[in-house]
Amino acid sequence: MTTETTLAESFDGRRFTYRLPRVSSIGPGDFVTIGVTFPETAEHPGAALVMGQVLTRATKAGDAVGHGRILGELRPDGTVATSGGDPFTSDDLAPAGAGVLEALQARERATLRIGDLHHSRGNVDALLQPHRFNRHTFLCGQSGSGKTYALGVLLEQLLIDTDLPMVILDPNSDFVRIGELLESASSEDAHRLRELDVRVLRNDGEHHPVTARLTAMEAASQAAVLQLDPLTDRGEYNTFLRMLESATGPGGVAGALGAAAGPPAIATEGMLNPHTIPSALRATGEPDALRLAQRVENLGILDWDVWAGVGQSVSEVLDEGPRAVVVDLGSLHTHEEQLAVSLALLDELWADRATRKPRLIVIDEAHNVVSAEPATQLQRLTTERVIQIAAEGRKFGLWLLLSTQRPSKIHPNVLSQCDNVIVMRMSSPADLVELEAVFGFAPPELLAATPFFHQGEALIAGGFVPAPAIIQMGARRTVEGGSDVPVPMPG
Ligand SMILES: Nc1ncnc2c1ncn2[C@@H]1O[C@H](COP(=O)(O)OP(=O)(O)O)[C@@H](O)[C@H]1O
Ligand SMILES: [Mg+2]
Repeated sequence: MTTETTLAESFDGRRFTYRLPRVSSIGPGDFVTIGVTFPETAEHPGAALVMGQVLTRATKAGDAVGHGRILGELRPDGTVATSGGDPFTSDDLAPAGAGVLEALQARERATLRIGDLHHSRGNVDALLQPHRFNRHTFLCGQSGSGKTYALGVLLEQLLIDTDLPMVILDPNSDFVRIGELLESASSEDAHRLRELDVRVLRNDGEHHPVTARLTAMEAASQAAVLQLDPLTDRGEYNTFLRMLESATGPGGVAGALGAAAGPPAIATEGMLNPHTIPSALRATGEPDALRLAQRVENLGILDWDVWAGVGQSVSEVLDEGPRAVVVDLGSLHTHEEQLAVSLALLDELWADRATRKPRLIVIDEAHNVVSAEPATQLQRLTTERVIQIAAEGRKFGLWLLLSTQRPSKIHPNVLSQCDNVIVMRMSSPADLVELEAVFGFAPPELLAATPFFHQGEALIAGGFVPAPAIIQMGARRTVEGGSDVPVPMPG
């Protein structure tokens, strides 16, 4: 729609202001084209169609006014070029056609389809730039907004379109059926998904269990499992340290602690055996060793199902190189076990970072693992480890994809490292203020629309999209694990 009163101008070729009749439906997030005549030069043909995105809208003297950003220049061959940065005035501003948006997506190599763009001019796919998953990504939305469903759509498409290996920490058993195809999946997608090595680890007696190896964890992590503090538990902590040192040496812990000959072997073939720890400690006769033995028993740590024993730990499964591993934390009995497994996995991924194997680390309900206010030593350590990966993991190929309800529940040092963001329905004003402060690249007026989102609607912004946009997530192709339970109704 072009009218006589339409007016757009730019003094720097990067931003523009506009004035439109009030009846115009153009508003924040909309893509527009602006017809411009530049002074003709050798490089520039003169007439050009500038492509922009409206960011704000207000009413002034009966007109709609606001500003936007310039995204590029549409060339006669249909491609989008970087804008020349020249100032202009124009009386020709109109909603961009689908083809213009597609040209922009093509320029930015956005090919990963996750849904549909909200766009007045025909259907346009919502496409992300798959190569930009070499950054950290944050997904948030209130409970029921469709985060887990959206995460499923995104993960399926990453499985189809990339070769990026992923590990999924799944606290609600939502992704345990990601290997099962729905009939609605297209035959190409189904074919691709079927040939991938996707493993589900689950403590249900049928799947490969979710397990960790206590001895493969860092000393500080093991101490956290034992709830040992180096200062308040000085004696026990010291015994614990000597136990670790001796675990691989001859004589094992008992030898190192000066026990008489013949105590149970605490370590065999260099592997600490958690189940023999208490008896080996007792055999030393040392008071601190006795206290440590009592601690291990009282905490019930040896009864945890997660200790790998002779089986494979989660990271040993990862080492076999499957394309995706779902770790069903929801199948573990206690929160501590969930944290211990998460920590063991994160420890090992971090220890292995020098190999620079790319990996997407997906954490749903991420506030459990990387809390803004960690309550226990285990939670503190998992939080610290994720902070470290957020800060330094990128260059080693360790990329995070974190999902949670509220940004304030995630440690701020992790949030600030996320370059890609997906925001679903969010009605708390405080949360929106925080999102706006942390994610400067998400336009405030688009964030302001999120309280009015329906289920499955999302704002996508950051390095992995050509321009921030409001979208409707597409449909899943594999079976959801734990969709909402309906209220039973009569009849
Ligand atoms: N885009 C969608 N299309 C169809 N159903 C959806 C969509 N998003 C969510 N749902 C359904 O709504 C319910 C809640 O979604 P879920 O993704 O679990 O929300 P959240 O993780 O944000 O709490 C689930 O039963 C899910 O199947
Ligand atoms: Mg969820």
